[in-house]
Amino acid sequence: MAAAVRETPTPNSEALRPDQIPHHVAIIMDGNGRWAKARGLPRTEGHRQGTENLRRILQASGDIGIRILTLYAFSTENWGRPRAEVQMLMRILESVIDRELAELNQKGVQLRHIGDLSAIAPRLQKKVREAIALTRDNDKLIVNLAFNYGGRGEIVHAVRQIIAAGIPAEQIDEQLISSYLYTSGLPDPDLIIRTSGELRVSNFLIWQGAYAEYYPTPTYWPDFDEAELHQALLAFANRRRRFGRTDDQLETNE
Ligand code: FPP
Repeated sequence: MAAAVRETPTPNSEALRPDQIPHHVAIIMDGNGRWAKARGLPRTEGHRQGTENLRRILQASGDIGIRILTLYAFSTENWGRPRAEVQMLMRILESVIDRELAELNQKGVQLRHIGDLSAIAPRLQKKVREAIALTRDNDKLIVNLAFNYGGRGEIVHAVRQIIAAGIPAEQIDEQLISSYLYTSGLPDPDLIIRTSGELRVSNFLIWQGAYAEYYPTPTYWPDFDEAELHQALLAFANRRRRFGRTDDQLETNE
């Protein structure tokens, strides 16, 4: 029997079947600053609008049936930004937790963090840890917040942990390394979206993204709405993931 076609609740009329929806979507939310500059506004306004947009995309992702959403909110390189901007991004994280946590929890969002929390203010670390603990049993949507995250740093961290655990060289394989990354236990991303037209990986999920489909869009993050997300999902649905194999092999299911 043919699978029932379910309309995704987006403004776009093109339907996606449930089996076409990527399980794990990761987003490099780029272009807040340029969005603001294009409107003669301060960069802070771009981040404010970017945060508003995050609410919309979280809601849409849950509605569509995405199970894991990994969001690049602050990279290990972002410490090099002007002090006031770094402080603002820290304040945004704090206010998102203060204002949105109860609703996210009620909607079944499980909040996780990837990156190095130890470098941020102890008070904020505590809030993040409490938010993770509060939502740990939720299973509607896992939101994995990459904050003070860098892919190379993540691999260095994993190697150190593996050595500290005394694991012999011959036991080290890809699965073991994956299990020591911040994303341990989660499947690799299927789709990585980057807004704002940049065509770089920027140290984001460099191990886990080995076979992800990339979707760059020129749209700045504050304007990346539900319809744009739907376009990205449609593009994903039309990709052929070969994982190193040939088309013929895929057709004959070899
Ligand atoms: C990139 O735009 C965006 C960031 C570095 C921060 C992303 C933050 C948000 C979307 C707000 C939500 C944040 C949290 C912590 C939940 P950019 O400033 O690099 O833009 P530009 O490249 O145009 O200058």
